Amino acid sequence: MKKFLFFILTISTLGSVSAQIIPQPKSESYGDGSFTITNKSCLVYNSTVRQSALYLLNYLPFKQILSSSKVMVGDIELSINRYLDEEGYRLTVDKDNIRIVGGSNAGVFNGIQTLLQLLPPQVYSGNVKLPLSVPYCTIEDSPKFSYRGFMLDVARTWISADKVKRYIDLMAYLKLNKLHFHLTDDEGWRIEIKSHPELAQIGGFRGGDSPVFPRYGKFDEKWGGYYTQQELKEIVAYAAQRNIEVIPEIDMPGHSKALGAIYGDILCNYTPDKNKTNGLEIRNVWCAAKESNYALIDDIIREMSEIFTSDYIHIGGDEVNMSQWRKCPDCQKLKADKGLENEKQIEDYFIARVTEILTKYGKKPAVWNEAIEGGLLPKTTRVHGWASIKKCLAATSKGYPTIIMPGNYFYFDMKQSPSEPGHNWAAIFDAKKVLSFNFAKEGFTAEHLKNVAGIEASFFSEIYIAHNPESCNYLDYMLFPRLTALSEVAWSHSRRSWDEFYNALKSVHYARMDAMGVTYRLETPTVEYTNGTLTASTADGSTLYYTDLTTGKSSRYNKPIATKSPYNYEFYSKKGSGVSKKTGSKEYYTRLKPAVTVTSSISCSSKAPITNATKYSNSIARTTRAAKAGDWIEYRFTEPLNCREIEVQTGHIHLRRCHLLKGYVEVSYDGKDFSRIAELTEGGATIKPSPSLQAVRVVATDRSDAEDQIVIQSLKIK
Ligand code: ACM
Ligand code: ZN
Repeated sequence: MKKFLFFILTISTLGSVSAQIIPQPKSESYGDGSFTITNKSCLVYNSTVRQSALYLLNYLPFKQILSSSKVMVGDIELSINRYLDEEGYRLTVDKDNIRIVGGSNAGVFNGIQTLLQLLPPQVYSGNVKLPLSVPYCTIEDSPKFSYRGFMLDVARTWISADKVKRYIDLMAYLKLNKLHFHLTDDEGWRIEIKSHPELAQIGGFRGGDSPVFPRYGKFDEKWGGYYTQQELKEIVAYAAQRNIEVIPEIDMPGHSKALGAIYGDILCNYTPDKNKTNGLEIRNVWCAAKESNYALIDDIIREMSEIFTSDYIHIGGDEVNMSQWRKCPDCQKLKADKGLENEKQIEDYFIARVTEILTKYGKKPAVWNEAIEGGLLPKTTRVHGWASIKKCLAATSKGYPTIIMPGNYFYFDMKQSPSEPGHNWAAIFDAKKVLSFNFAKEGFTAEHLKNVAGIEASFFSEIYIAHNPESCNYLDYMLFPRLTALSEVAWSHSRRSWDEFYNALKSVHYARMDAMGVTYRLETPTVEYTNGTLTASTADGSTLYYTDLTTGKSSRYNKPIATKSPYNYEFYSKKGSGVSKKTGSKEYYTRLKPAVTVTSSISCSSKAPITNATKYSNSIARTTRAAKAGDWIEYRFTEPLNCREIEVQTGHIHLRRCHLLKGYVEVSYDGKDFSRIAELTEGGATIKPSPSLQAVRVVATDRSDAEDQIVIQSLKIK
């Protein structure tokens, strides 16, 4: 009977407590009343959890902290019980004390994160005063997965060490514990290697006079950065105090164009045809046959293993352009000498050689899913399944410990809705889809699950460079609340529903992110146009604004707007530091699709013919060489066109790449004479033509970026 009463009390008081802890703990029960942390409260800690005690001081201004002292009424105690799961903890708050008992320091740290979520959101500003009250409760918790990761690509778009630390703090808030740090790629080399200083000193910067040609974003300006070994050691220590292991990645043998631009000798032994690329080197694969390459890798890994404390170094292995090995006489000889069946097995050979070096320095390899396709990689290699669910299933069924991070659920560089910035090759998805990830529905059996080593989110930063990386706003917006949802998937044993999750966001987590200054994404406002009136609303209590696109003026939305031109109004909402996407009524998105023919001074490939650019869809045309000054693309309408505006864009639809670097747009109203109407910015321009438009032409005044092609898109006409 007593038990039954306690159960009733637990359930009935849950509603009155707004802890709404994310990720959801294994079990939580709340009592009536609260404990008050006062200026007299001491933080008493077991000496093995000193780092966690010091961490808590960043948030709560205890007057006294004492190691291994007697706990008095009113104190907070941090201690260890080795019988609990290593990362598990029990948090009890009663009238006398707050006690966090962890299976290890990591468990205590996780308990501290839960305690912070029992406090007012302002605690996250690091600027609260005591007293503060904490509801009576007992919370027992431990994670579903011991690997709960986030991969940050700082190779494409570099961010400072301080910003990296900020994201480490945001990971800690969500009990994420692995930072997979993508430090090198085609676009940059971000880690100081003292025995080869030019790697970072040259490879950390692209554009301007750097030999590393920029592939995205800033072209004229030399731009970038790298981390010194001292900074990296500080990042590792900062993360370790927050129960986060930093797993560095140097992406090999592909994705190495930046390195090849500095050390051309690492590339394969043949002369590439540079006619199509305006003379630029676009090879990006290490030659597998050169012994000097393995000596260089030894130097790099030796220094990395002194910086990073993780057992693992991620060595890449994804998207290797095997055609470079096919053209290389040395790699072909290696293949024959070693009895390798194909180029994928050349990759196995390369990875096996690098693994030998890792072993020498006490490290283990992690690789992307392609690296297991040659069939020779030992089952001790940790695999990151990124390309699809199918690839994750393949890795787990072959027996590799696999980190599950398929792009269509966990790549947070993907767009969150069709008209927002981001990539879209894997999917377009928001936090709701992340939360919905379900192993069974995706085909994972108990056998597969045995080899699931963890869950990881990822952010590849190709287009971040175009979104002012000096502020964190774009990265925040792409990560929150998707990363919040990911923490539920990685930690919680029984997942809360979207409605419960969204309620937790609205009731407290938005406020917590406000206190941390996170530019999180609010749900999109609803906008409708009926009977000549635009009406907008939100479901989260955020404040609505609208922009009149004819004047560019933004105002607070207080009442419906009577207008005959609904497409001229854009709406968005704000709440604290959160923002919604910009949206409009159905009419705002409506596009015109007049019949058009497209021609160009450059021929297109048969696989992506120029007619693709007449379809008003995402299908693109590809030319057979890079562009030069004087090249042009012409769009000619079959009937004179009247429209509000036209977006003209060269390059990939979601990535400013394979586009014209400089040029202009000209228009014709008689089909013969053209007048210049706009300059290209990043390969595109928005024009507002007069009525009766007959043709639009894009003219290059410079070469395209460093590709052997350019991409031609359909016009976007409104
Ligand atoms: C990857 O996205 N190429 C790992
Ligand atoms: Zn080679």
